[in-house]
Amino acid sequence: MKKKPKIQKRYNRISIAYDFFEWPMELFVFKKLRKMVSEELENKTLEVGVGTGKNIPYYPDGIDITAIDFSKKMLKKAKKRAKQVNKEVSIKQMDVEHLEFEDNTFDTVFTTFVFCSVPNPIKGLKEIKRVCKNGGKIILLEHVRSDNKVLGKLMDIFNFVPLFIYGANINRRTVDNVKKAGFNDVFVEDIVGNIVKKITIINNKSIE
Ligand SMILES: C[S@@+](CC[C@H](N)C(=O)[O-])C[C@H]1O[C@@H](n2cnc3c(N)ncnc32)[C@H](O)[C@@H]1O
Repeated sequence: MKKKPKIQKRYNRISIAYDFFEWPMELFVFKKLRKMVSEELENKTLEVGVGTGKNIPYYPDGIDITAIDFSKKMLKKAKKRAKQVNKEVSIKQMDVEHLEFEDNTFDTVFTTFVFCSVPNPIKGLKEIKRVCKNGGKIILLEHVRSDNKVLGKLMDIFNFVPLFIYGANINRRTVDNVKKAGFNDVFVEDIVGNIVKKITIINNKSIE
């Protein structure tokens, strides 16, 4: 049997307390960001790294949505939430680095706070590029390493703490990773300081 990545094990471990740890940020900051991103979802949509399903209540009605995560225990919570809020969503255990979908399957692909954790982010982003249609939209709401010299350095020094507890890095350079994955039409907005960013990508496959 294939060995589980360390990060997957950490999310399985934290799943029981994940929502509790996050509730203040959720209430005051993340909730409105989730609503903002969900308003842009269209037709056939993929959510990568659905976690405990915090975006599910905001999924618009009438779209065909699939949600994946590699942590079985986070997914269990997501399934429960989908039932509670009466949303029809196809939830599957899958690794974004090895997506089991055909090329050009989705109109929209989105993530919220996921590429801080994906073990090989460039590989995961390339997989998203593959499964999203040409001209489709990819939205990544992600926290990243600060551009501020001092804060950025502090994030490097203390990265080991959330990495050990959750499996999340606080010093990922996700905008650079997006470019390294071969995306060209990339629009970046600062949402909370320069740490939480909304990265919108038009998946232009014709200029690869
Ligand atoms: C910080 S949580 C965010 C969960 C959710 N998106 C949210 O906004 O609350 C990161 C999630 O990404 C998932 N994840 C990390 N690497 C992954 C991978 N390679 N494939 C699929 N899911 C992954 C983790 O299991 C975890 O549920």
